[in-house]
Amino acid sequence: MFKRFRRLRINETLRNLVAETTLSSNDFIYPLFVKEGENIKNEIESMPGVFQMSIDEIVKECGEIRKLGLNSIILFAIPDTKDSVGSECLCDESIISRTIQAVKKEYPDMFVATDLCFCEYTDHGHCGIMDPKTQTVDNDKTLEISALQAIVHAKAGADMIAPSGMMDGIIETLREALDENGFENLPIMAYSTKFASAYYGPFRDVAESTPSYGDRRSYQMNPANRLEAIEESIQDEKEGADILMVKPALAYLDVIRDIRNETKLPLAVYNVSGEYAMLKNAGAAGLIDYERVMMETLISFKRAGADIIITYHAKEACEVLNRK
Ligand code: PBG
Ligand code: ZN
Repeated sequence: MFKRFRRLRINETLRNLVAETTLSSNDFIYPLFVKEGENIKNEIESMPGVFQMSIDEIVKECGEIRKLGLNSIILFAIPDTKDSVGSECLCDESIISRTIQAVKKEYPDMFVATDLCFCEYTDHGHCGIMDPKTQTVDNDKTLEISALQAIVHAKAGADMIAPSGMMDGIIETLREALDENGFENLPIMAYSTKFASAYYGPFRDVAESTPSYGDRRSYQMNPANRLEAIEESIQDEKEGADILMVKPALAYLDVIRDIRNETKLPLAVYNVSGEYAMLKNAGAAGLIDYERVMMETLISFKRAGADIIITYHAKEACEVLNRK
């Protein structure tokens, strides 16, 4: 009688020996949200465990996560002043620059990636400069100022730039700008396949970046499209992206696998705010075993083909991994 499957599940050591995918603290990038001020640590109602933090608190937090073996963060900034073009993020004294410098001063080997977009800095909340005629983001004008923003991040000491605005031609534009300014060694992680998703809702509370009118469907991808999803990523690879990304993660596992099969580049997934909030709230309500569902969810991204997981669960996941 055939019994091979059961034989290899007999105890934990054997199960681990034959495990096809694993999770480790090296897989995670932890998102952090920086706000002006001092001693600020505001928990966000829709995302328990996620905070807006002032620069001093961000530095402290970096100390905490390093103890867990977590050494990579991605920074989002919430500036005090917003205008139609997001001028705040185009100067060297930008909140994001000061944060990068503060983290790097205390922890030089902390890997600091930055989200490059305009929605947190614009008063209208869209991801670039608006074209008044079409009432949507002007692609090419946004490319120009994106290059400026990238140089600001690079000069402040960012280790990786992650453009998230879904403008066409963004990777080519940033690669050229970085190279021309002496930042040939600075990698770009493209938000290459980013869907227009309702799962970003809680993030927009944290980042204070909800569009004041309209939505992002004229620049982010239609969740219905699988072939276009692959093309978006392959295009970014051609333009010089170093790492590709699928976002959100959980509702798009098929797309992660598709892209994994089409490229040899490292692939990241963004396990977004709404996905995190669902698990958190279901766990708090006693509906699921939060910790186990979290680990099962994270391993599903690896199984689908992801190398890197950007996740608000990173700290908790490291705690679980360190316990073993
Ligand atoms: C900014 C940006 C968003 C996210 C990451 N970068 C929001 C958006 O596009 O509306 C979402 C992250 C999350 O939901 O956790 N462009
Ligand atoms: Zn944006």
